Amino acid sequence: MDIKKRLFRTLIIVAIGLSIGGLMGLMQIYTQSNAQVVNKGSRAIEGGMAGINLGGPFELVDHTGKTVTQADYADQYKFMYFGFTYCPAICPTELQRMVQVMKALSPEQQEQIEMLFVSVDPARDTVDVMADYVSLFDDNLIGLTGTQEQVDEIMKNYRVFATQVPIDDGSDYTVDHSSFLYFMSPENKPLAVFRMKDSVEYMIEEIQRNMGAVETAL
Ligand code: NI
Repeated sequence: MDIKKRLFRTLIIVAIGLSIGGLMGLMQIYTQSNAQVVNKGSRAIEGGMAGINLGGPFELVDHTGKTVTQADYADQYKFMYFGFTYCPAICPTELQRMVQVMKALSPEQQEQIEMLFVSVDPARDTVDVMADYVSLFDDNLIGLTGTQEQVDEIMKNYRVFATQVPIDDGSDYTVDHSSFLYFMSPENKPLAVFRMKDSVEYMIEEIQRNMGAVETAL
């Protein structure tokens, strides 16, 4: 598929997602008890974060073409997602959720967080493709790509799974990949790993708690 067409399709998905997001905000008011059940499941993962060795140094290229390492985001919290720009639905949805969470935080909190989208498909996700793609979501979203070796390294350190799956006659492929939103401390320690079923409200609460802005309610 032609890049322009593909990005247009993604834009449509983003627009639909934002409308649904607005509706879900309303629905959330009526489904408080449901949200609590979801939260219990997530706490199990979050509670085990302390002992988990996740993250590490990296060298990649951002969507402006600049070579970056973890040092470029030192002293910042990192809200990260790994995916690929050709992803038909999951990646756009998760990136929208990431932006939605970010927008719900205070300006002071937002200033302390970098939103990073790391490509697991660097062969197709060139700097230009990443630049077009991240601009669909938020001006502050940073797209990161690199050589296959550089991407393999960061995927290994964040325990990201991704594998190419041929489609059609084998001339094209999609990528099956794990889908988690990582919230990392300024010292690059994992604070929370969110799953697709974690609500935006839960992620906001967890991030605020980890940033020390909110007293733990439980
Ligand atoms: Ni995806």
